[in-house]
Amino acid sequence: MNYSKIVGTGGYLPEKILTNADLEKIIDTTDEWIRERSGIAQRHIAADHETSSSMAEQAALRALAAANLKPTDIDLIIVGTVTPDKVFPSTACLLQERLGTGKCIAFDVNAVCSGFIYAFSIADQFIRTGAVKTALVIGSETLTRMLNWNDRSTCVLFGDGAGAVIMQAANEPGVYSTHLHADGRYKDLLHVPSLLAMQRTPDEEPFLQMEGREVFKIAVTELGNLVDETLAKNNIPQSAIDWLIPHQANKRIIMATAKKLGLAEERVIITVAEHANTSAASVPLALDAGIKDGRIKQGDLLLLEAFGGGLTWGSALVRY
Ligand code: ACO
Repeated sequence: MNYSKIVGTGGYLPEKILTNADLEKIIDTTDEWIRERSGIAQRHIAADHETSSSMAEQAALRALAAANLKPTDIDLIIVGTVTPDKVFPSTACLLQERLGTGKCIAFDVNAVCSGFIYAFSIADQFIRTGAVKTALVIGSETLTRMLNWNDRSTCVLFGDGAGAVIMQAANEPGVYSTHLHADGRYKDLLHVPSLLAMQRTPDEEPFLQMEGREVFKIAVTELGNLVDETLAKNNIPQSAIDWLIPHQANKRIIMATAKKLGLAEERVIITVAEHANTSAASVPLALDAGIKDGRIKQGDLLLLEAFGGGLTWGSALVRY
C-alpha cells in the first residue's frame, strides 16, 4: 500500500449568515462592489459558543460518516488553522479529545489559507511511508474574530467554517503528487500583527491586514506556475484534469487559474459566493460540496490548490 486516497469528506458552516446587504448597513460598501471584485455574496459567522475545534468536530463527524469509519479508526489528526481555540494545546489535540479517537498523533499546521494543502501533503507522506493507515485532515477557521469590522478592504472578504477529509492507505493513487511553497519575504503583505512571543500588547491592533492588490498579483502568477509544475511532474496535459478545486478567496483569482488550465467555469468548484474566504477550510469545503452534489465522481482527476499568508501556496493532484 504505497499511496493514500480520499475516502470521505465533510463540511460545516455556522448557522448565522451575514450578507453583503447586511454589511452595507454597517460600513461604506455595496453588494455590487463586493460581488464584482471578489464574487462573494455572503459569509457565515461562528456563534459565541463555537470555536475552530467545535466546528472541526462537526466537519469530522460528517467525513467519518461518509467514509463509514469510527473515530477510533483514526491514526493521525492534522488541523490547518490560524485561529486555534488556544495558543496551546493544539486544536488537533482538542479535537482528538472531542472525537474520542484514542491516543493518535495530533498536531496543527499554520500555513494560513494554504493550511489544508500543507496538512494534506503531510498526511499523504505519513501514509505513504506506512507510519499510519488512516488520517483525518481538517481546515477550520474562526477568522471573523480577527477582522477589523471598520476596515472595508478586508472585513467583507472573510468567513468562518470547517472542512474535513479522511485519507487512507491504498494500492493505487489516490494522491499522485503534492507541491508546497513559501516565501517569507512577503510576510508583511498579509498578516495579523499580534506580538505573542513578546508577551505584551502589540502597538498595532491584532487584526488581519492585507495589501490586497499586491497579494492578488502574486497569487495569480504563483498559482499559474503551480499548475505548470503539477502537470509537468505528472507528465499529463491540461485536458486530463476533470475538476479544479481552488482556494475560495476571490473568483477572479480562481478564474485566472482555470484559464491557465484551459478549464471552463463548469469544471471549477466555486463556493466563494456562499461562504467567502474561510482560509484553510475553503478547499475541503469546496471539495465536499462538489462530492456531495454529485458533480465530482469516483475516478475523476482533481487539482486542488491554495494561496495564502506567509506567503504560502501549494497544490495536490488527486484521483477521487
Ligand atoms: N467596498 C467598496 N469599495 C472598496 C471596498 C469595499 N469593501 N474595499 C476597498 N474599496 C475601494 C478602495 O478604497 C479603492 O478605492 P480607490 O480606487 O478610490 O482608492 C477601490 O475600492 C479599489 O481597491 P483595490 O484594493 O484596488 O481593489 P481590488 O480590485 O484589488 O480588489 C481585493 C480588492 C478583493 C482585496 C483583491 O485585491 C483580492 O482579492 N486580493 C487577494 C486576496 C487574497 O487572495 N488573499 C490571499 C488569501 S487570504 C489569507 O491567506 C488569509
